[in-house]
Amino acid sequence: MSPFLLSIGNILALAWASIAFISFIQLFRQRRPPLPPGPTLIPLIGNLLIVPQKRLHLKYTEWAKTYGDVFRLKVMNNTIIVINTPTLVHKLFDLKSVSSSNRPKSIIAGMIAPNNVHMATGRYANDTWKSSRKAAAYALSPESVKTRSAYQYAEATQLMNDLLHSPELWFDHLRRYTLSFSLGIIYGQRGPTLQSPDIADFMNVHPRYVEALEIGTLPPVDLFPFLALVPKRWAKWKQTVEDIRHL
Ligand SMILES: *[C@@H]1O[C@H](CO)[C@@H](O)[C@H](O)[C@H]1NC(C)=O
Ligand SMILES: *[C@@H]1O[C@H](CO)[C@@H](O)[C@H](O)[C@H]1NC(C)=O
Repeated sequence: MSPFLLSIGNILALAWASIAFISFIQLFRQRRPPLPPGPTLIPLIGNLLIVPQKRLHLKYTEWAKTYGDVFRLKVMNNTIIVINTPTLVHKLFDLKSVSSSNRPKSIIAGMIAPNNVHMATGRYANDTWKSSRKAAAYALSPESVKTRSAYQYAEATQLMNDLLHSPELWFDHLRRYTLSFSLGIIYGQRGPTLQSPDIADFMNVHPRYVEALEIGTLPPVDLFPFLALVPKRWAKWKQTVEDIRHL
């Protein structure tokens, strides 16, 4: 090869390398908008190994002390931004609700309460969701809450009485009180004792529903959507989800 050809080859190689380098940087820039600080990332899996499966809030509090009021986590290809001050939560979710009120898809939540019917897990702001929101906004408005104060006073009187008679059941009494009050204002049907059918049903279903949605209780179907395709006889979690749905 003549020295002349060699130098052309070198120039071409150099040009190719710099174009590749520049596009790599651009790709890098496009893919990574500036994110808040957070724990060190491991390639591909991010923070998967250090996100605890139970009592997430305690770890979040600890990370908030290290990384500040807003920090990021990455679990596989999902970025999670954790916000730790009520003021910021209000600014983001209330004042900027138009751009922040959607939620990531949860396959399990969708299997338990399909068709967008559950206001807290529904993802589409369509008419189904809007009518729930309207009812909730009405029931929780300051004027509406004021009209229920006599009813709340009556429930609180029973709460005091229950606490005096069986203080060891304090947690159940508090649950009865909050549930009976909500059932009363929503359905006009209160629950005077822990054994009242509506109260007993709710106390049976709700903890199981919340547990099923907690990270780590059931397989990570949202991270690995192919798990949802595994037939029921090999996927015990599908039976669990169906049981909760039919409670
Ligand atoms: C992560 O990857 C899965 C499967 O490749 C995809 O369905 C999902 O939308 C991705 N999530 C994000 C936040 O990019
Ligand atoms: C709202 O969206 C859900 C999910 O796509 C759907 O099942 C439901 O029928 C929709 N509601 C209305 C009123 O269109």
